[in-house]
Amino acid sequence: FRSQGHERDNSMGINLANDAQLRALADQINAAVTGDWTAAPLVPGASASGTKIAVTNPADRRQTVGHWQAADSATVEQALQNAVAAQPAWDATPAASRAAILEHAAALLEARMPAYIALCTKEAGKTIPDGVAEVREAVDFLRYYAGQARKHFAPEALPSPTGESNTLQLAGRGVFVCISPWNFPLAIFMGQVAAALAAGNSVIAKPAEQTNLVGYAAVKLLHEAGIPEAVLQFLPGDGATVGAALTRDPRVAGVAFTGSTDTARAINRAMAARDAAIGVLIAETGGQNALIADSSSLPEQLVKDAVSSAFTSAGQRCSAARVLFVQDDIADKVVHMLAGAMAELKVGDPGLLSTDVGPVIDTDALALLEDHAARMAKEAKQIAVATTDDSVAHGSFFAPRAWELTSLSQLTRENFGPALHVIRWKANQLDQVVDTINATGFGLTLGIHSRIDETIDRIVQRAKVGNIYVNRNQIGAVVGVQPFGGQNLSGTGPKAGGPHYLPRFATEKTVTVNT
Ligand code: NAD
Ligand code: ALA
Repeated sequence: FRSQGHERDNSMGINLANDAQLRALADQINAAVTGDWTAAPLVPGASASGTKIAVTNPADRRQTVGHWQAADSATVEQALQNAVAAQPAWDATPAASRAAILEHAAALLEARMPAYIALCTKEAGKTIPDGVAEVREAVDFLRYYAGQARKHFAPEALPSPTGESNTLQLAGRGVFVCISPWNFPLAIFMGQVAAALAAGNSVIAKPAEQTNLVGYAAVKLLHEAGIPEAVLQFLPGDGATVGAALTRDPRVAGVAFTGSTDTARAINRAMAARDAAIGVLIAETGGQNALIADSSSLPEQLVKDAVSSAFTSAGQRCSAARVLFVQDDIADKVVHMLAGAMAELKVGDPGLLSTDVGPVIDTDALALLEDHAARMAKEAKQIAVATTDDSVAHGSFFAPRAWELTSLSQLTRENFGPALHVIRWKANQLDQVVDTINATGFGLTLGIHSRIDETIDRIVQRAKVGNIYVNRNQIGAVVGVQPFGGQNLSGTGPKAGGPHYLPRFATEKTVTVNT
C-alpha cells in the first residue's frame, strides 16, 4: 500500500519510502507502550470512579496496552455542570486566540508523532503507514479548523441600505458532545473536538470504548497546548450508558457523532425527545461503497486500486470499497488478477513494516465477519482468501476475502472489514448499476474506473454519494482538499475537513445599529 503514487509525502521528517527512517520509527513504536497507565475521566471536581478495564492489543490479546475507567453518573453530571459554566468565557475568547491554541497543539502532536502512532498501533491495530496517516490527518484537522475559525468568526459587515450598520457574527452554540468511533481514534476524535472548540463551544469528548487510550492522550495534549480543563473534558464510557446520558441531556446544544447509522438514529431520537431547545446533530455514518469499472478500465490499475480501497486498514474505513461492479468483458481477467494480488497481501503484526493488513478491532468485529463469511460460503462464489500464518493466532485477524455475487441485495449490512464483493454488469446496464447502488440508501464513497469521459460524467451526475474518486483508490480523503462525508444513510453532512463544516458548530447573530 505504501507505493500509492498519489499519496502525499507524510512530512514531519518521515519518508515512508526510506527504509532506514521507517525502521527507526518501527523500533520507537514497538518500544513505546508499557501497559501501566490508565485513561480515566478528565473532569475537574470529579472523584475517581469505576473499576479499571484492561485494554489489550488487537494483534495479540495476551498483551495489555493500558487500562481505562468508565465515568459513573456523578462524573457525567459534574462534566455537564463544568461544561455549562466554562463555555461563556471560552466563547468570549477571541477566535484567533482559540485558533492559536489549536495550532500549538498541532505542533506538539507533530513533534510527538511516534508515540501517537505507537498508541494507534497497539490499541487500534493500525499498521505503521496507517498510523502515520492518522497523526497527519489529526494535525491537518487542528490547523484547518484553526484557519477556518479565523476566517468565519471575524464579524462580517453586511449592506446598510437604510443607513444602519449591520454585522453578522458567529458564536459557539454552548456545550458540544463529541462521540467518535474506534477506526480513526485520533484523526476523527481530534477533528470533531478541534472544530467544536474552534467555534467557541465547551466540549465533552466520549471516545469509542475500544480506543480510550488514544482519546485520553489527545485530550492531555490539547490541555497542554492551552485548552482549559473545564472547556475540554474527557468522558470515557459505554455508548449505551455514558453516550446516551449525554445525548438526552437538555444542557447539550449539539452532538458531533461519527459511527454507525443505527447509533446516529438512536442519538437523533434521544435529542428529539428532550424537553429543550432543538439541538444540532452532525452525524457521519456508514456506507455500502461501490467501485464501478467499465471495459475501458486498465485492469492493472483497477486491481491495485480495488485492493487498496478494500483492504487498507483491514477494510475498517467507512470509505472502503465493499462492492466492485465490473463490466463483463474484462471481468474474468480482473477476477483472476484480483486473486493474484490478494495472494501477495501480508496479514499480521501491524508493528512490522512488512505487514499490509493488521487485525480487526476486536473479537466482536471478528465474529461478525466470520458470520458473513459463513453466509457467503453458502450464497456466493469465493474468489480469493489471503493467507495467514501462526503469528496471527492470538489476535483478532480476518484474512482478506473476495466473493462473486449475482446481486447487491445479497448484502444486507455494511461488512466492516476486509471483505470485497464482485458483481458483473453488461454494457447496457450502467444506469441500472448506479440506481442499484443509490437504492441501498447509503451515499458515502464511489470509485469509478473508466477512460471514457461520457461514462464518468454520467455516473458522477447520477450517483447520490458524497465522495467520488475516478481512476484511483477511494480512501484517504485529505483535509481541506477532499472534504469528506456522505448523504442519506451515510450522514447529515456537512463535510469534515471542508469549508462549510465549522459554521454548523456555531450560531449566527445579526447586529443592527441605528447610527
Ligand atoms: P458505533 O456506532 O458502534 O459507535 C460509535 C460511537 O457511538 C462510540 O463512541 C460508541 O460508544 C457511541 N455510542 C454507541 N451507542 C450510543 C448511544 N446509544 N448513544 C450515544 N453514543 C453511543 O460505531 P463504531 O463501531 O465505533 O464505528 C464504525 C462505524 O462508524 C461504521 O459504520 C463506519 O462506517 C462508521 N464511520 C463513519 C465515518 C464517516 O466519516 N462517515 C468515519 C468512520 C467510521
Ligand atoms: N476520511 C477517511 C477516508 O477518506 C474515512 O478514508
